[in-house]
Parts: sequence; structure tokens; C-alpha cells
Amino acid sequence: MGKRGSFSSRFGVVAAVGGSVIGLGNIWRFPYIAGENGGAAFILIYISISLLISIPIMLSEFTLGRSTKRNSKRAFQKLAPGSHWNWVGYMGIFCSFIILAFYSVIAGWALDFIKESLLNNFAGKSPAEINANFSAFVDSGWRPITWAIIFIVATAVIVLAGIEKGIERYSKILMPLFVVLLIGLVINSLTLPAAREGITFLLKPDFSKVTGNTVLQALGQSFFSMSLGMGCMITYGSYIKKNENMFKVAGMVALSDVSVAILSGLAIFPAVFSFGINPTSGPELVFLTLPNIFAQMTGGYFISIIFFTLLFLAAITSSISLFEVSTAYFSEEMRMGRRKAVLLVGGTTIITSTLCALSQMPGSQLTILGHNLFDAFDSLSSNILMPLGGLLIVIFTGWVLSPAKFKNELTSQQTCGKHLFPIVRFLIRFVIPFVILMLFFSLIGLF
Ligand code: TRP
Repeated sequence: MGKRGSFSSRFGVVAAVGGSVIGLGNIWRFPYIAGENGGAAFILIYISISLLISIPIMLSEFTLGRSTKRNSKRAFQKLAPGSHWNWVGYMGIFCSFIILAFYSVIAGWALDFIKESLLNNFAGKSPAEINANFSAFVDSGWRPITWAIIFIVATAVIVLAGIEKGIERYSKILMPLFVVLLIGLVINSLTLPAAREGITFLLKPDFSKVTGNTVLQALGQSFFSMSLGMGCMITYGSYIKKNENMFKVAGMVALSDVSVAILSGLAIFPAVFSFGINPTSGPELVFLTLPNIFAQMTGGYFISIIFFTLLFLAAITSSISLFEVSTAYFSEEMRMGRRKAVLLVGGTTIITSTLCALSQMPGSQLTILGHNLFDAFDSLSSNILMPLGGLLIVIFTGWVLSPAKFKNELTSQQTCGKHLFPIVRFLIRFVIPFVILMLFFSLIGLF
């Protein structure tokens, strides 16, 4: 996205933003976090948060981006010159680095699974053998590292060649195909022996187990999945046309994002219970479950190849948006050529990603506060940095930005969403800051 153009149609905006939003967050992270947090009650909280907190934050980010037509750090600088608000931009850049580090490891797992599918290595395996093979893969260290590096290089090449737009054109066709495939997997999962248990886990809430931490996890998952709280959507907002209805864009994006996550849960959990996998297995959950599904499914060989290929494509359209945040910063703000910026971001990501993969090996010393580096980066970004970024962004739009400017920009000069505006503004000024602050206090143990 060299020259600052705009998206040409609503479908174009939704598809581009959707490319960033839909990714491993929906298919990999949502089921594992839902599994660790008890299922149904978590999911209800997650859906409410997506509607009442995430959509307004996405609208705030779009507003900041479209009104300034700048990257995230510049947007704050332009709207509040000489203030410290541009630190929100720096924080976003730091955040994009740590997300990329662990994201590339998981995308690497998906790449390895394309290879395993092609070699028909899931067929005829028992759940125990699938488990053993996966542990051998992660414990080898060099195998996940090699795939992660391949993934990072692929992302870097796309960003350097500036062919994101071309990729987006294909993902407009491929992502709907992915959804169709996912629906097929859901139907297949519903025929599994323990389907009822899986569905109960997803739909029958037990609120007695909900704590402040459950809510924080739901908030973090929603932010991660919708690419919020670190300026990514500020950048996308800067490409949205002045007369576009941003309420509709954010609504459609959120609806697709939540739907894909729920479909993923419906495909995974019946299988989790049918194959005796522990729902709290953590980041491995989906990668232990899917091979079992493909091993028993008619046509599993071809379907697994297509599935992991589409998962890889969904991951790369998301990683491009993360990579672009820091590349844009280094090339535009540090007066570095784009090529140098891409090399710098790619090189740093290869190092941090390698450390993340190494930290998952048994007996690894790469830990922070008792968690391996991978888990530490995962929860630091989703549970602390993104909520903090989101909090600062709503405080800025709700309390610092002039109300008239906010209203005119968000309602496209009062042509759309005039009735929704007061509700969104109330959420942005009062409800969201209150909820996020309470969650932080409960994390520190003040409540
Ligand atoms: N939302 C993406 C996913 O679900 C990941 C992602 C892309 C992201 N860009 C982001 C997360 C910016 C946070 C911030 O896979």
C-alpha cells in the first residue's frame, strides 16, 4: 500500500480488514482459550464483549485513522501535537513484534501439517499416536523453527514486494471457501460419538466458575481476534473512503469474526470429547484434535490438505498486517528504506520466534515468571498490552478528541449512524474504560 489510496467498495474494505482479523486467532486461539476457561459461560462473555467493547474500539480506531490518514503513531501526533499520546503508537509497535513471534510459530505448525497431510501421515493413527507424533515434532526444536522461519520469510517477501492487494484478491474467494469447509467439519463433528458432550460444553454455561480472570481472557481473546488495541485498525481506517459507513464495516467484520470462531469451536469440541483429549490442553489443543478428525473422516486426506492450506493463507493475511505496522514505522519514521525496514523486522522476528519455539521444548530455561516464553508473550500481548492500548484509544477518542470532530468523522459528516452515535460514544467514554480498569484491578488483586 505505497500511495495512500482507498478501498474501492464496501466489500473491498470488509475483505481487507477481514484478512487481518480472521486468522489463527479464530481457529487456533479461540478453542484453546475457551477450553481453558470452561466453555459456554466464557463464550457468552466473549460474544457480549465483542459487541459492546470491541466494535466501539474498532470504530474508535477507524475514526482516528480516517480523520488523519496517517499510521498509528503519526495519527496521535497529528491530533494531539506535542503530547505523549504517540506512546500508544510505540506500544503498538512493540506489541506487533511479540505477537508476530509466537504467531509465526503456530503458523509454522500449520505449514508442517500441510506436509503431514500430503504424506497421509494422519490416516490410521490412534489418538495416542497422534499425540506422540505431535510431541516429537515440538520437542525436536529444529522442525518448528524451520517452519516458523519459512513463514516469516514468506510474510516478509509479500510485504517487500507490496503485493498485499493481490493476496487480498485471492483471499476474497478462498476465505468463503474456508467457511464452507469449516461448516462441513462441524457437520462431521456432530456425528461423532461424544458430540453431545462437546455441544453441552459449548452451550451450557456454568457461571459459578466465572472470575475476573475469565472476563479478562475473553476480552483479550476478542481484541486479539479483531486485531484491536495496537493501532492496526488505525492504519486500515486511514484507507477507508470518507463516505463509507464505518458502523456497517465494523459490524460485518465483527459478525464474521465471531461466527468463524464459533464454527471452529463447534468443529473442535465434539472431537475433543470423542477422542479423549483434555479441553485444557492449551496451545496444542487444535493441533491434537484436527488430525483425529481427518483420520476418521471420509475424504480426510484431501480435506486435510485443503484445510491446512487455507489455515496457512488465513494466517499469512493476518501476519502481513502485523508485519506492516512495524515496517511502516521504521520506513516512514526512521527514514529507513522499505527494504532495510523489512529486513530489520524480519530478522528480529526470526530471532524472537526461534526463542519462542525453543521455549516449548521440555526442560527449557526460557521462562518468564514461571511461564515459557511462548505463553508469556501470548498472554502479555492479549491480556495486558492490547487491553491497555484499547483503554488509551477510547480515552483519547472519548475525552481528548473534540466531540464535534469525533461525531463528524464517525458518522461520515452525519450521513450515517446518527442514532447509533450517542450509544457508541457513551460506551467509549464511560462503560469501556470502567470495565477495562476494573479487570486490571482484579488482576492486581485489588478486587
Ligand atoms: N486477528 C488476527 C487473528 O485472529 C491476528 C492479528 C493480526 C492481530 N493483526 C493483529 C492481533 C493486530 C492483534 C493486533 O489471527
